[in-house]
Parts: sequence; structure tokens; C-alpha cells
Amino acid sequence: MVRICMITFFLLATQLHWSFTHGSSDTIRKAYIVYLGEAPRLRSNAVVHQHNLLSSVIKDESIAQQARIHSYTKSFNAFAANLLPDEVQKLKENENVVSVFPSRVRKLHTTRSWDYLRMPLSVKRNLKIESNIIVGVLDTGVYMGAPSFNDKGVGPPPSKWKGRCQVVGKFIGCNNKVIGATFYNNDPKFPQRKPSPLDVNGHGSHTSSTIAGATIAGASLYGLGKGTARGGVPSARIAMYKVCWPEGCSDIDILAGLDDAIDDGIDVLSISIGGESNGFFDNPIAIGAFHAMKKGIFTACSAGNSGPYVYTVQNTAPWIMTVGAASMDMEFRTPIKLGNGKENDGLSINTFTPNKKMYPLTSAAIAANSTLSPGSSPWYCDQGKLDQKKVNGKIVVCKEAANETYIKSLGGIGVLISVIGKIDTSFTAIIPEALIDSSFGNTTLTYVNSTKAPQAVIYKSKRVPNAAAPFVASFSSRGPAMLTSTILKPDIVAPGIDILAAYSKLASLTGSPDDNRFDVYNIISGTSMSCPHVAAAAAYVKSFHPDWSPSAIKSALMTTATEMKVKDGLAEFAYGAGQIDPTSALQPGLIYDLSTLDYIRFLCNEGYTGTNLKLFTEDNTNCSSVHKFGGYDSLNYPTLYYQYDDPNSTISAIYYRTVTNVGFRNSTYKATVTAPKNLTVTVVPNKLSFTQLHQKKSFKVTLKAPPQFLQIFQYTHQSASLEWSDGTHRVKSPILISLSQPR
Ligand SMILES: *[C@@H]1O[C@H](CO)[C@@H](O)[C@H](O)[C@H]1NC(C)=O
Ligand SMILES: *[C@@H]1O[C@H](CO)[C@@H](O)[C@H](O)[C@H]1NC(C)=O
Ligand SMILES: *[C@@H]1O[C@H](CO)[C@@H](O)[C@H](O)[C@H]1NC(C)=O
Ligand SMILES: *[C@@H]1O[C@H](CO)[C@@H](O)[C@H](O)[C@H]1NC(C)=O
Ligand SMILES: *[C@@H]1O[C@H](CO)[C@@H](O)[C@H](O)[C@H]1NC(C)=O
Ligand SMILES: *[C@@H]1O[C@H](CO)[C@@H](O)[C@H](O)[C@H]1NC(C)=O
Ligand SMILES: *[C@@H]1O[C@H](CO)[C@@H](O)[C@H](O)[C@H]1NC(C)=O
Ligand SMILES: *[C@@H]1O[C@H](CO)[C@@H](O)[C@H](O)[C@H]1NC(C)=O
Repeated sequence: MVRICMITFFLLATQLHWSFTHGSSDTIRKAYIVYLGEAPRLRSNAVVHQHNLLSSVIKDESIAQQARIHSYTKSFNAFAANLLPDEVQKLKENENVVSVFPSRVRKLHTTRSWDYLRMPLSVKRNLKIESNIIVGVLDTGVYMGAPSFNDKGVGPPPSKWKGRCQVVGKFIGCNNKVIGATFYNNDPKFPQRKPSPLDVNGHGSHTSSTIAGATIAGASLYGLGKGTARGGVPSARIAMYKVCWPEGCSDIDILAGLDDAIDDGIDVLSISIGGESNGFFDNPIAIGAFHAMKKGIFTACSAGNSGPYVYTVQNTAPWIMTVGAASMDMEFRTPIKLGNGKENDGLSINTFTPNKKMYPLTSAAIAANSTLSPGSSPWYCDQGKLDQKKVNGKIVVCKEAANETYIKSLGGIGVLISVIGKIDTSFTAIIPEALIDSSFGNTTLTYVNSTKAPQAVIYKSKRVPNAAAPFVASFSSRGPAMLTSTILKPDIVAPGIDILAAYSKLASLTGSPDDNRFDVYNIISGTSMSCPHVAAAAAYVKSFHPDWSPSAIKSALMTTATEMKVKDGLAEFAYGAGQIDPTSALQPGLIYDLSTLDYIRFLCNEGYTGTNLKLFTEDNTNCSSVHKFGGYDSLNYPTLYYQYDDPNSTISAIYYRTVTNVGFRNSTYKATVTAPKNLTVTVVPNKLSFTQLHQKKSFKVTLKAPPQFLQIFQYTHQSASLEWSDGTHRVKSPILISLSQPR
């Protein structure tokens, strides 16, 4: 559906080309990243080593110098260079190289949301530690003029902070809330940028204020969504790494931002940028997050806005918390009235108040351009399809999609879009607009067809309760993951529909140059908006448990998540463990923890067996030296996933898990299993007794089901669950069984 593009800052990556000379494809140099693993002990040595490596494949010294783009040595060892295909091949064969991949340009993928998540203004906080937490955000920069970034009452930056603030161009500088702001502009493809950390897009201001924005009473978008705007951890600090520009976010810059962020002393990373690659080490986000994890930094990433289709989830490395988007319990509704008195509520974020009682109404079919070629449907109301004389001064009814800029350019004064199927997400348009369901759409079209001078009016939107919440947004990307068949992704969902947060006054509300509405707040939807909610929730949990590892925090958020009210047709492929419940995550009872070695074991299991695995493990670990794992998967993950190919095969899988007691010192947990007919889930032992805090206990889960188990449900997947409880804590793990599906 065309409409999703408006909010989907998160799309397919396109390949970046750059050449010294014009010529055939094997003489065109393209930007690549050469990843060499663990950060070097001595930076100067690393730069020499990187140069020698490059010189070993580019013999001419001046060409080798010219080919270099950037060197990464703080948090990991890598460099970017313009390379020819045969040079790429030679580097890939070099035993000191982990991976070589083309640099691509990726796309970017309040507030009541915190009250909705049971974190009211009065929620208990550990302010002393919260104010020491630094959240690094990779995004479009920050607009310091938004009230959300004022630092009233916030003390000086924590002493561990090593980062910078680049006061350049029109960027006015940092304060005690936004303690760091840097920009990354190394992509030779885009030399014409005005370098500064200033946010001219709005996206970065929105995501970072959702995490740690100040508490501002009376915030709204033109009166819509009125309430107190605030971040989830308003005392925490923001470090903005501007790696995204109008053209997108280059891998070269994402990696440079991460190289700095990990070294700067941050605690949590929030990355609302998309783009999966062929492997976990062909992707700057997965590489950066891996090194972040090793330093104890938690990483949340957006799952993508390509739902509701299977295999669309992105950022699926197990050391990343992958976040889908869900609804809140309120939504924006836009009342519509026809000339015949019929009324309906459409879906949109319409800031315009009508100044007439009624306006002339027409339909795309009636207003179609008479020169339209046969078979070319006018219903989508896209460019060239309509006749200006028939649109001027009117509201137009379109089907499925519309180009509002085009309709406005013809003098149209409103759009109603009739949509077949589920609609759950509102959009802001440059003229009054609303999505309507096809039933009211047909009512409207019948009225238009049968009336001489049809009329309608679209009122300003209002916020109303949404009893179906929480449900997963239709645009939110769904599992299973492309890169691994042993872990369930996404991990979790958080609010990502109609989020009110800070915005940049340098961008119009819709981003369109024809839009003259500018505000320090905006209401936007996307997994870009849900990801920072999870980053903030992680910071909140960390403020009470500063010694917990990123995977312990992740486990706490997952095992305490709220069940979805609407069970999406794709079940856990849509929402993972459920919707975050940050205050419950403070007391998870038990946690599924993971060490770096566990991730190495996972990589070995997934076939990353090359000798260069040792390059990013300090102690030269290799796959034959890590202890093999007997179970179906190799990770102590808080969810259990089983994927198989042959529907006629018997299901039989064993999972080993270890939990750590973080609840009461003396406690006994009992296992409860729910499973569909014909699936047997056995937990041994089914009782775990602890006498100490931080004590670990292991157990084994066996899944068994007869051939054609899924067919009896006429479904390609089935859900079950495991819950450990001591009477106080509930430690919940979804179990999902799925047949591989056509991709
Ligand atoms: C109809 O479409 C043609 C081709 O797209 C365009 O040149 C023409 O201006 C349109 N006519 C009107 C009345 O909009
Ligand atoms: C929408 O219409 C505007 C104005 O006619 C045009 O510039 C733009 O390219 C159109 N957008 C799309 C997606 O067709
Ligand atoms: C509206 O009409 C279209 C065809 O004109 C039809 O496909 C659709 O099902 C109708 N919607 C409802 C709710 O009746
Ligand atoms: C209204 O008229 C258009 C042609 O002008 C036709 O395509 C459409 O199906 C009609 N819709 C209804 C609901 O009568
Ligand atoms: C892997 O590790 C083992 C044990 O540490 C060692 O004996 C072996 O030589 C290593 N293999 C490689 C390929 O490095
Ligand atoms: C599964 O078994 C059924 C009946 O025994 C058979 O018709 C079908 O082809 C088998 N499917 C596969 C994928 O082997
Ligand atoms: C915990 O249990 C042990 C025996 O298992 C007992 O000695 C101890 O007093 C208990 N501690 C508390 C705090 O209940
Ligand atoms: C499922 O279990 C029922 C008994 O509960 C049994 O009758 C049926 O044959 C089983 N189905 C399959 C596919 O094994």
C-alpha cells in the first residue's frame, strides 16, 4: 500500500556506487567496509596494519591512499575503502579479515505512551542512578529548540562521559540533558552536506525525546493529543550520533557513530534504522551491537515497517532487542459528515478545523482525467490521473491510496480514502484527510453517484479510547527471521502508533515542502517510535539493577511482558514475548542470562565456523574449543522457537535453559505449561528451589508432536508457553512451532 511510505523511514537499502573513473563494472570502485574484528590494543598500530592490508591488494600507493575513506579503531577494528571486485575478493580470502561488505544507504525506520505503559509521572525512580545513564541514539540529529530538550534541574554530565558536542553551523550546542551531539559525514557519495548535528528532519528529535525528553505539561500537536510530554527516563542523558541525512544513513557513517558511541561511555543504544544483510557480520548495526554487548551496553533496534508479511523482520541478531510496534489504548479519529446527514469516524491526524459547514464532494471516477488510458484506474488518485477542473475546490473520494500533494496542487481541499481491510494507523496529510473503511466508502460513493451536488465535511481529529489495545500495528514487520531459524524474532513490541514527541521546527509536519505547519511536537507512527520506548525501559530497569548484563535486562523485559489482547494471525511472529511492562521488569524473579561465549557458541552453531571467529573473541576462541551444545538451539534465550521443513516429520526437540534467581532468596518456582492439542511439552525438573540470590538452576524442555501436527489446525504455526512462578513472580516464555514458509 502506497500510504505506508509516508511514515516508513525504514525501507530497502540501496547500493551505494562511487567511482574514480567511468568504466566497466570491474573497474568501478565501490565503497566497502572491511571488518577485522576486536578493537586493537594500540590504535596507531591498527591504522598501519589497515593500511598494509589495503596496500597488499592495491599496489599503487597513491591509489591506495585515495581509496581510503575511514578508519574505525576505538570499539572495533575496521576500515572503509573504495575497492574493485578483485580487491574485495583478495581481502575476503585474507585470514585477518572477518568480512567485507558493500556500504549501503539505509533508511530510517509523548506523552501518554508512558502512562499507558503503567509508568505514571509518580512512578518510583532511582534518580541518582537514572541521571547517570547515558542513552546513545543513532539518528537524524537533535533540534535543541524543542522544550523537551531543556535541562532544567539536571546536573552536570556523569564523569564517565567521554563523548563530544560538535557546535558547528546552526547547531546551538549541548546542555546537561543532551550531553553529546556529533555528526558523521564520511560517505564520498554525498559530499554536499552542511555538516552539523542539527536535526532538519524531526525523526531524531522524536526518538530521543521519547527516551529522555523533559516533562512538559500542555504539549500537543495543534491541540491534538494534549497532555504531558515526557521521556521514559527524563533524568537520563541523551547522546545524539547523527548518521542519517536526507539521502539516508550510510553504513560508513553508522559504523563510525557506533565506533564512537561504544567508546564514549553510553549505557544503552537506540537505533531506529533498518536493513538486514546476508549475515550478522555484513551489517554495521549487528557488528556495532555485538561489540556494544561485550562492553555491557544494551541495544534496542526497530523491527521494520514492512508488515504484515512474514520474513520481514530486520535487526535480528540475538544480541539486539528487536522491537515491533503496537497500539496504545487511545487513537485519533476524524469525524466525517456527508450532505445527506450520514456520519462516520475516519482515521487520520487532521489538524485542520473546517471553516465552512460543507464542501463540494466528488469521486476519483467522476473527476478522472479524460485522457486516461484504458485500464488505468483513477481510484488511487495519483499524479496525472485527475482533471483539475473537476477537483478544484472539492473533497475527493479515492480508493486505497492518494497523493495529497497532487490533489492539493489541483486545488482539491480534502481527501477521503476508502480502504478494504484492516486500518489501524493514522497519518498526517497536507490537506484535510481521513481513511475510511470500505463500507462507509461505498455509502459515500453511492451518495456521490446519486446526488446532483454532493457535499461533505472533514472535521478536526479527536482522541478516543481504543478498547482493542494492545494489538500489533499492521505495518510492523513480522518474523520469522531470514538469518536464523533457531530464535524467535521480533523479541517484543512497544507503542509505535500515534506517538506524540518532540520534533524539529526545521521540518514541516509531513516533511513536504508544500506543508507550512511547523511545530516542536509531532505525532508519528512506526517501529522507529517503538524502539526508543524499549531503550528507555532498559535504562529504567538498569537504574534499579546497574550490574545487570544487557541480556539480563532483555530477559526481564521479555518474561514480564503483557499479553496481547488481539492475537494477531501471525501470533508471536508479530509480537514476540508481548508488550513491554517496564515496572514489572524491575522484579522479574528469574532471568535468562547470556555471556559473550554463549553468543560465540550460537555463531558456531549457525555455521560461522571460519577461523576468523577468533578475531572478535579476545581469547582466540574457536568453534572446536567452545563446548558443543546438545539442545535444539544453542542460546539461553527467554523464548523457545522450533522451525521445521517437512510437515510429515515428527516434532522432537530438546532445549536446555538456565535461570538465575533475582527474586527472593529462598524460593521455589513451579513450571506451568500451556500447549495445543497433540503437542507435549515436558519440563524437567518442573520445580526449581533456590536458597540464594544469583543462584543458577538448569532445566530441560522437550517438545513432542506427531507428524502433521500443524495440519490439524490448518495453520503453519502454533503457540504454546512455559511459565515459572513462585506465587509472586511470573516468568513467562512463549514457545512457537512453525513450518518453514515460502519466502
Ligand atoms: C491529463 O493527463 C495528461 C497526461 O498525464 C496531462 O498532460 C493533462 O494535463 C491532464 N489533464 C488534466 C485536465 O489534468
Ligand atoms: C505526488 O504529487 C506531487 C505533485 O504533483 C509530485 O511531485 C510527487 O512526485 C507525487 N508523488 C508520488 C509518490 O507520486
Ligand atoms: C465496497 O465495494 C467494493 C466494490 O465496489 C467491494 O469490493 C467491497 O467489498 C465493498 N465493501 C463493503 C464493506 O461492502
Ligand atoms: C459510482 O460511479 C462510478 C463511475 O462513475 C463507478 O465506478 C462506481 O462503481 C459507482 N459506485 C457506486 C457505489 O455506485
Ligand atoms: C581451536 O582451539 C583449540 C583449543 O583451544 C586448539 O587446539 C585448536 O588448534 C584451535 N583451532 C584453530 C583452527 O585455531
Ligand atoms: C505428507 O504425507 C501426505 C500423506 O501421507 C502426502 O500426501 C504428502 O505428499 C506428504 N508431504 C510431504 C511434503 O512429504
Ligand atoms: C532460607 O532457607 C534456609 C534453609 O533452606 C534457612 O536456613 C534460612 O533461614 C532461610 N532464609 C530465609 C531468609 O528465610
Ligand atoms: C491428536 O490427538 C488425538 C487424541 O487427542 C488423536 O485422536 C489424533 O489422531 C491426533 N492427531 C494426530 C495428527 O496425531
